[in-house]
Amino acid sequence: MKSDTAKTAVLQEETRIFNTPQWIIEHSNSYQWMKNKGFKTENEMRKWCSDNYIEFWDEMARTFVDWFKPYTQILDDSEKPHYKWFTGGKVNVAYNAVDRHAHSEKRNKVAYYFVGEPVGDAKAITYYQLYREVNRLANALKSVGVEKGDRVVTYLPMIPEQPITMLACAKIGAIHTLVFSGFSSGGLASRVNDAEAKVVVTADGFYRRGKPLPLKPNVDEALKNSPSVKKVIVVKRTGVSVPMTEGRDVYYDDFVAGQSTKCETVPLDPEDRLFILYTSGTTGKPKGIEHAHGGYAVGAAQTTSWVLDVHDDDVYWCTADAGWITGHSYVIYGPLILGASSILYEGSPDFPDLGRWWSIIEEYGVSVFYSAPTAVRMFMKSGEEFVKKYDLSSIRILASVGEPLNPEAYMWFRKNIGSDQAPIMDTWWQTETGCHVVAPLAMTPEKPGSVCFPLPGMNTDIYDEDANSVPLGYGGNIVQTAPWPSMLRAFFRDEIRYKKEYWDMYWQVKPGTYLAGDKATRDKDGYWWIQGRIDDVLKVAGHRISNAEVESAAVSHPKVAEAAVIGEPDEVKGEKIVAFIILKEGVVEEESLKKDISTHVRKVLGPVAYPDKVYFVKDVPKTRSGKIMRRVIKAKALGKDTGDVSALSNPEAVSSIPQIN
Ligand code: WTA
Repeated sequence: MKSDTAKTAVLQEETRIFNTPQWIIEHSNSYQWMKNKGFKTENEMRKWCSDNYIEFWDEMARTFVDWFKPYTQILDDSEKPHYKWFTGGKVNVAYNAVDRHAHSEKRNKVAYYFVGEPVGDAKAITYYQLYREVNRLANALKSVGVEKGDRVVTYLPMIPEQPITMLACAKIGAIHTLVFSGFSSGGLASRVNDAEAKVVVTADGFYRRGKPLPLKPNVDEALKNSPSVKKVIVVKRTGVSVPMTEGRDVYYDDFVAGQSTKCETVPLDPEDRLFILYTSGTTGKPKGIEHAHGGYAVGAAQTTSWVLDVHDDDVYWCTADAGWITGHSYVIYGPLILGASSILYEGSPDFPDLGRWWSIIEEYGVSVFYSAPTAVRMFMKSGEEFVKKYDLSSIRILASVGEPLNPEAYMWFRKNIGSDQAPIMDTWWQTETGCHVVAPLAMTPEKPGSVCFPLPGMNTDIYDEDANSVPLGYGGNIVQTAPWPSMLRAFFRDEIRYKKEYWDMYWQVKPGTYLAGDKATRDKDGYWWIQGRIDDVLKVAGHRISNAEVESAAVSHPKVAEAAVIGEPDEVKGEKIVAFIILKEGVVEEESLKKDISTHVRKVLGPVAYPDKVYFVKDVPKTRSGKIMRRVIKAKALGKDTGDVSALSNPEAVSSIPQIN
């Protein structure tokens, strides 16, 4: 993939610096490690860990993960770009996340404080209880023939059965594939079919803004053409009655009834796959990113400890849905491997009012809080009234992910939620990286809006088109110049695309360079500033959605001939979806049809992909090979310079795109 990133100079410079209070620094896991090792400065430590990344990750692997059998080789890079970590060992994430705690002094420690959306609907689940539930489900899955390597899809709200299912799969070596419950039947069907899932675990419904909403009907719709699925397990969450298909569907409680609370955890090769998580790329077909047990466990746990600074006595809360990578690494695996206590919250941030999150922080004494810029901006817009009602003084560390945390949002978050003292870990990473890559540590002096520096053990750089590291003050493509344990291992059954999307760009010059797909700049002090994606991927309220996937959903509307989708900057959501539609011959352009098309996309793909604006156009600009030029459309629509359009097959189409802002 060739990006259009030239060396771009840093335009603005942020001069404010925030230093973390000394007690927070000294209390932090990363600082303590640094002192024990005798490093004098943060810079010195970061540099040593990255220069000596093999030695570093070896120590981290032994610190954070228990191995059934020790590995004999730390990194095997003989088959680039497929790297293997911790070769020769035996491991299982489920043992590390649950079994070992259930048999230690942490046995009765709370793993999750589950908070349902209906006020008062809450329960605490200890490590021992989690262990028993995971075992029951693992046995039940085995009883219906789920074996090592089989795929199990979950389509669940944020309820305890979500982590239980993930861990039960891991325990027996099955591969879980979570589909975010904000996708509807179309999004679910494509993922279930690509993964050839044997089992789907879902719920009758879930609560959203006070109302029970159905979920199971989406599954029935999605599975109309899914021959691989043999069983659908339905958690009763809301109690609404749902149709059950004889022989295929079974209620969760019946499924696990009578199963033993003991189940052997299978010792696995560290490279055995733990999960496939579908994420959006440049085409309409989502990519199944594969992660492996060993390396993923190390990366998720180490960064939960070093970056989020989770300690044994913290109550930790990451607000992400488990259906995205942030949920996998920082709601489920990272905190569980550390044996931490976390909040698992089912609902929306504004029910019954905008104080709900803050009431949970106060009630449970949350000390580490990990959320997203879109949420921060939503609260910022609605004022401080609801924040001021609650005592948030328990917060020690804040963190953010998914899109740039702009300086205004940084300041608001720090002042109002962080009592003007908590540092904010603005973490840059991706589904593909498995864990944080560029981020501050508690000790890092922060510049609002900057993700600071590559983490210890990461070899992250910014390259120009010719694989030269750009000087300070310039920007380019984010790359990883060396492998790391929690990196993606492959695309599920799509080797060609795996190589093309991440490794081909610099292969001739520097083989083994991972192209992340984001642009960034470094200022004169070396601070990193994320500039956004180089490809056609939208970030709507932090959710990663491909333009092409939305376009193909729009085109499935019977009156639509063609669609081009762009993201328009939005002050709360980061981006909102705008669709330019070419109607079929003879179809009349009616206002009501616009709404109809948006509703159709929501029905096919899900509420996350709802186009906020629809425009009818006669033509859209394309390359000679027929590729829609979204960059040109976006520039025209936003009233910016469209640049050179001579390479287009139909340059006159540019004038048919209206300016929308
Ligand atoms: C973007 C989410 C700016 C980026 C963990 C990346 C960010 C994509 C940040 C991955 C951040 C993530 N600042 N941009 N702190 N974190 N991104 O796979 O464009 O859902 O490539 O993983 O989110 O999205 P994904």
